[in-house]
Amino acid sequence: MRKIVLILLGCLSTVLITSYTNYTSETIPLKDVFKGKFHIGVALNTRQIWGRDTNALKIVKTHFNSVVAENCMKSMSLQPREGQFQFRDADQFVEFAAQNNMFTIGHTLIWHSQAPRWFFVDEHGNEVSREVLIERMKNHITTVVSRYKGRIKGWDVVNEAILDDGSFRKSKFYTIIGEDFIRLAFEFAHAADPQAELYYNDFSMSLEGKRNGVVSMINKLKKQGVRVTGIGMQGHVGLDYPKISDFEKSMLAFSGTGAKVMITELDVTVLPNPRRNTGADINQNYEYKKAINPYIDGLPDAVEAKLQDRYLDFFRLFLKHHDKISRVTVWGVTDGDSWLNNWPVFGRKDYPLLFDRQYKAKPFVEMISRISTKK
Ligand code: XIL
Repeated sequence: MRKIVLILLGCLSTVLITSYTNYTSETIPLKDVFKGKFHIGVALNTRQIWGRDTNALKIVKTHFNSVVAENCMKSMSLQPREGQFQFRDADQFVEFAAQNNMFTIGHTLIWHSQAPRWFFVDEHGNEVSREVLIERMKNHITTVVSRYKGRIKGWDVVNEAILDDGSFRKSKFYTIIGEDFIRLAFEFAHAADPQAELYYNDFSMSLEGKRNGVVSMINKLKKQGVRVTGIGMQGHVGLDYPKISDFEKSMLAFSGTGAKVMITELDVTVLPNPRRNTGADINQNYEYKKAINPYIDGLPDAVEAKLQDRYLDFFRLFLKHHDKISRVTVWGVTDGDSWLNNWPVFGRKDYPLLFDRQYKAKPFVEMISRISTKK
């Protein structure tokens, strides 16, 4: 009798343990959690695109249904010299996405950053004319968008054209062509793939000035008959900025233009912003370094808790407005992949993403699932 009871207890504990381990964030695919609400996406680096980071790929295939290339589709990578396109990495990215049935995003066609210098100068190094720059833009956009027609579903057509105060960034595109470069970029992209979704994408989108600047730019484009289907809020945020209410105001304002809203590059830095520190005492150097890179041995519980609250607050907001959002994309698979380890200071250790350096889902990933499935 005792033997039977022991066996039964043994079975019961196995069942309990199995169901507990099954109920971890590793096995609740985020893409199922948000099904019917919005796509959940991730940015891929070239090690992932080429299948070298197999642990990361397991996460990508399990949890995400949308991908974007972190770097290899920027103009500097695609057309490093005029007319000499390099499509190796981008082709592989699109192939990977197709094989895994992912909603594929192209990032980014027109951006002042990571653009090759030749784009703006002639063979003597002098600035090109408006006509030449428009022609180069047209050629770049047409070549790239046509190549992936039907396979890339959405393009970040213009990235970061508006400053925090709502005025236009004085990029080369702006100073040489004028604000019309934005309209032209969208028109060229639309002509090359009329089915593709076309987005305007930018950071610090919760600032009032930028919010107003973007809304009036989009409304003006709409009046001109230009097709802008979405507005991407990059979502590079911190533990204490921006206020969720400001982020929400922008989501609503952008949605009010009739565009789909998407959170395109989500990461939450836990590190101090070095630009708030001033002074130049070289003896303070060690202290200073330690102060701006405080978590090299791991994240203290209190900071982990703050990070968790922050992620939960943001996802609560996204879920509240899921009818206005078409996608949430995180900017990297694991903490080890994040660009924030090297920006704005090189060689720090940040913890901004959903998966840690051991490829494990952070505890709040499961909590996100629970708030999503809660009625
Ligand atoms: C970053 C990449 O993550 C880095 O690897 C690269 O060195 C610089 O660019 N806004 C954008 C992204 O639109 O393309 C940037 O990506 C991050 C800020």
